[in-house]
Amino acid sequence: MCGIFAYIGKRTDAPEIVFEGLKLLEYRGYDSWGISYIDKQVLKIEKHTGKIGSSKLSKITKTNIALAHTRWATHGGITDENAHPHLDCKNQIAVIHNGIIENYHELKLKLSKNNHAYKSETDTEVVSHLIEDELKTKGIRQATFDVFMSLNGSNAICALDKNSQSIIACRNGSPLVVGFDEIKKQYFLASDVPAFLKYTNKVHFLEDGEGAEITKDGIEIFNIKTGKQINAKIKTLDWQLEDAEKNGYPHFLLKEIFEQPKTILKSSLINKDAIKKLAKIIKESKKVILIGCGTAAYCAQFGKYLFAQSGIQTEIYGAYEFKPFAKFCDKNSVVIGISQSGETADTLIALKEAIKYGVRTAAIVNSRGSTMERLVDLIIPIGAGPEIAVVSTKALTSQLATLYLLSKASEGKYLQAKKNIQKLSNKLSKWLGNELSENIIKLIKKIEHNEHMYVIGKNLNYPAALEFGLKIKETSYIHAESFTAGELKHGVITLIQKGTPCFVLASNDEVKNEVLSSASELKARGGKIIGISPFESPEFNDLIKTPDMGELTIFGNIIAGQLLGYYLGVSRGADPDKPRNLAKSVTVK
Ligand code: M6R
Repeated sequence: MCGIFAYIGKRTDAPEIVFEGLKLLEYRGYDSWGISYIDKQVLKIEKHTGKIGSSKLSKITKTNIALAHTRWATHGGITDENAHPHLDCKNQIAVIHNGIIENYHELKLKLSKNNHAYKSETDTEVVSHLIEDELKTKGIRQATFDVFMSLNGSNAICALDKNSQSIIACRNGSPLVVGFDEIKKQYFLASDVPAFLKYTNKVHFLEDGEGAEITKDGIEIFNIKTGKQINAKIKTLDWQLEDAEKNGYPHFLLKEIFEQPKTILKSSLINKDAIKKLAKIIKESKKVILIGCGTAAYCAQFGKYLFAQSGIQTEIYGAYEFKPFAKFCDKNSVVIGISQSGETADTLIALKEAIKYGVRTAAIVNSRGSTMERLVDLIIPIGAGPEIAVVSTKALTSQLATLYLLSKASEGKYLQAKKNIQKLSNKLSKWLGNELSENIIKLIKKIEHNEHMYVIGKNLNYPAALEFGLKIKETSYIHAESFTAGELKHGVITLIQKGTPCFVLASNDEVKNEVLSSASELKARGGKIIGISPFESPEFNDLIKTPDMGELTIFGNIIAGQLLGYYLGVSRGADPDKPRNLAKSVTVK
């Protein structure tokens, strides 16, 4: 949570560079934002509450060094004062931060003896004042490293020093990546690559315990504890500039929904060896556990059904509920984390807990260079490219395609499964288009004023229903509750009133008739039944027809929910890319 971006180079529009790049990190938090830069030997600062979106910088200043921050509040309300950067008393250092400094009260108490003047209620501000004190006896790099070593918790900080015209960054548990453009002699530091993808795809992902010193001459990487210099491990990413731009779409969310035929296909082409290796581990293991949070937890639920079809029993947990069950794991267990960002604190904590019991670990992750990638024994990168909208779409369908391949690989049917994904990709690209959008928009007109909606599904369509409901809730703020079709008559059917929109997710499978019976029960109580399926039925008042792809029909059913959520959100005036209160990677417990 919170986005960090910094620039040093030959260009003299550094404030605009960080301001524009920050917009691509807003998915990390958007309560408030701020930038700092050096203007004629003076450290300048500008801070605002609200989204950076359509804001403008109040003044155009020519300078070649700047940093910027977008905030998801943890300590202190959403005010200009609490927005980052935070300065020391001498206005020499500007600090931005991502994480939570768990011992900031003690650190502040220690500092109060030195009469520092605080302007905010944040945990971050203590860092600027601590550095100020350390600078009395040492240089900026050592001072920042020593202060960072005294912080407890998962943190990433970045300090701009006016005197040395340098930027010092430190990482422990919160992501930071540096970008090198040696040709134009410009250097970047960010929480995530999209911020600077426009300029370079040559990166070094900082490891926990690593720090960087960035000056106009380049980037040096250090071990924070020993102070020793480390060689940068520069990777060239295969991401394209267009991955971080809207390309004519009004929102990243819509662009990412429409990218799915391509991203699903890509995921099926890249991980053959890793999938086969993990399938072997799964077959050898006595216990197979899938964990994740939010949409990734629903993905784990899909996994449970897919593996069951392949004859493998799995356990699934929302990662935040895993700890009490970790003690039942041992070296014969495999725990698989599922995550878009690879930085979700609850999933990382659960994996670390499992590791204590000697399990084997794997992760199915989208972002590159993540903490999860480094934590587990085996990584399966899904290759969906940067997902910028806060709400997850293409990452889920790529994770799902990967789980499908994995489950089929465990029964020796990898090649057939790969062909099925290729067919799916073709069908989806023909189906996803203007006609589908128009049908969904027509449907929305009939239901958008309802504050409660219900979604049902069974077997593979149950996690699809959970995800469908979550997309509606996240993007339109409508209460959309999902149930298994079987649960309805055990209580929740009391909620149905005349005209209540009820989405019924179905496939041409062995439970089709059971699901239609549930639809009929809903209809009998006045529910307005909207089928999400490849077939028509007299039970449906409306139908969004999805491609008939056997067990892979769930992909179309999920995508229909993504589009419904998107258009409902737009029509109700919500910002589909940045839903209220949410952050994309939840890096706090
Ligand atoms: O980065 P992760 O996949 O680990 O994130 C997990 C959840 O926080 C995420 O899926 C969240 O539920 C999104 N808001 C879903 O749209």
